[in-house]
Amino acid sequence: MARIMITSGPTRQYLDPVRYLTNGSSGRMGRSLAQAALDLGHDVVIISGPVEIDYPARAEIVPVVSTEELLDACQRVFPGCDGLIAAAAPCDYRPIRVASQKIAKTGNPLVLQLIETPDVVATLGATRRPDQWMVGFALETEDQRLRALVKLEKKSCDLMILNGPEAMNSRRNQVEIIERNGSLIDALAGPKEEVARGILHVIHKRLITPFQSDFQRSVNLASIVSRPR
Ligand code: C5P
Repeated sequence: MARIMITSGPTRQYLDPVRYLTNGSSGRMGRSLAQAALDLGHDVVIISGPVEIDYPARAEIVPVVSTEELLDACQRVFPGCDGLIAAAAPCDYRPIRVASQKIAKTGNPLVLQLIETPDVVATLGATRRPDQWMVGFALETEDQRLRALVKLEKKSCDLMILNGPEAMNSRRNQVEIIERNGSLIDALAGPKEEVARGILHVIHKRLITPFQSDFQRSVNLASIVSRPR
């Protein structure tokens, strides 16, 4: 069985001690994926931004707030895992300057200067071991398949789960699963729990079992080679 790291929920980027940038991710897709993975007998570590929902009690939870913290936690945990499912919606921008006190109103427009946060999946993808697998999510509003495929390549993923903005903070989802050569493996729609079971089924069949049988073959071969005559 595999040890799977799942990123989930939104991140927050503070402007001052009380205000932050974020998005509407609920963590429900991450929770459903975790449950589906646990039901198949895998171990699960969830690295999650701030959410209102509860995660399965059998999963190990690492709470984080910002995208930088998400990256730090993932870099610590991923070396001990076989694969990643990146269902989080990390903030892509952060304010260049974080005020130490609450920003007071002045009657004038407030101009925020933002810079990009690190891309967690792309950073992990750049140093992943050959035996590790990675599955990303792409939420697109136009040229969906093409953009998802570009992200799959840029982020060194094995599969990309494509969904639309209606997935955000919803109990249902509609996804397409795309592989490295651009072909569509599966299209799933329904409650997030059901869609998550379908996604885990594909991951199990294409990314976990083939590697385990290769590994098993090499273990069997090693035992034949080293067996005393
Ligand atoms: O935001 P984007 O469409 O690039 O997200 C696609 C994938 O990359 C998702 O799996 C998301 O979890 C991941 N991501 C990330 N770090 C970011 C932005 C996105 O890991 N800063």
